[in-house]
Amino acid sequence: MKNVSRTIIARASRMIRKGKLVIFPTETVYGIGASVFHTRAVQKIFRFKGRPSDNPLIVHIAHAKDVHLVARNIPHDAEVLMKKLWPGPLTIVLKKTARVPRAVTAGLDTVAVRMPAHPVARMFIKKAGVPIAAPSANVSGRPSATEAWHAKDDFKNRALFILDAGPARYGVESTVVDVTGRRPVLLRQGAIPREVIERVLGKKVAVARYTSGKARSPGMKYRHYAPRVPLIVAAYPHKIGERLARRGFRVGMIRRTGSLAEYASILFSSMRHLEKSGVDYIVVQSVSAKGLGATIMDRMMRASSGGVFRDIIKK
Ligand code: TXA
Ligand code: MG
Repeated sequence: MKNVSRTIIARASRMIRKGKLVIFPTETVYGIGASVFHTRAVQKIFRFKGRPSDNPLIVHIAHAKDVHLVARNIPHDAEVLMKKLWPGPLTIVLKKTARVPRAVTAGLDTVAVRMPAHPVARMFIKKAGVPIAAPSANVSGRPSATEAWHAKDDFKNRALFILDAGPARYGVESTVVDVTGRRPVLLRQGAIPREVIERVLGKKVAVARYTSGKARSPGMKYRHYAPRVPLIVAAYPHKIGERLARRGFRVGMIRRTGSLAEYASILFSSMRHLEKSGVDYIVVQSVSAKGLGATIMDRMMRASSGGVFRDIIKK
């Protein structure tokens, strides 16, 4: 991890208190943050990202007890999750307090809260002295920013303060779990696999379906994570790649070489490198949808136009 000096972090915290936006590292992806209580700064996040106003933001805290600043009626399941998995890549949807502005939660009566583990994120939030509302630091619809240059690329002409701590460890976003209903529901598969949440809670947890109509989590209905060139998910990427190459296309490949965790961590950054290199297509290797593989497949499917190519191997 690249070192970020205390002086720089202190400066970033002062900017937050003045209503400015700061791009900061977390262990999942980079966030673009504002003070939760600064409505105008929060609205600026939506504007800069081109984010639909019905898609709420995650509130980041530095201490577990600060959850009470933004949420109330905290159920037992939430307490268990916070105790076992915070700080870390888990976001919990709770009933909001009156103090949280509508701009943050997009008018919902719930708020998504997360306590990141990244030391720079924690020091930054602590010094800011307020919870930080932050979505991923990418323009809406683009792959999430897992390195500082991704955010710089997306927000080119905006003067933004960036805390650069090097590549994010997980490279995929936090898992979002809603505990406001009768049973906990995963609204977004993420860096913590569903199986881990189930083990911690001692029960099965449903995964919310992506519907085009009324989504339980507004973020689910939008196209996401897409590079500027078409992306094809394939079980046997080299076969598709060869076919496209024979037709004269330049093809970039993303293939799994190491563990699922390593694969997840390079996914978005590889997409961004390849689109920059001027390829016509990106072909990315599918994985089996178990554990972190489910998260990886979710991101790939939504970054592509859908469908996994399997049959090509027979040709
Ligand atoms: O890892 C992460 O979670 C990163 C880092 C920066 O913390 N943040 C992130 O934020 O991925 P964003 O805005 O890109 O994704 C937030 C997701 C969206 O799908 C949004 O709809 C959902 O969380 N969400 C936020 N508040 C919600 C709420 N009150 N109810 C249901 N879903 C909510
Ligand atoms: Mg995002």
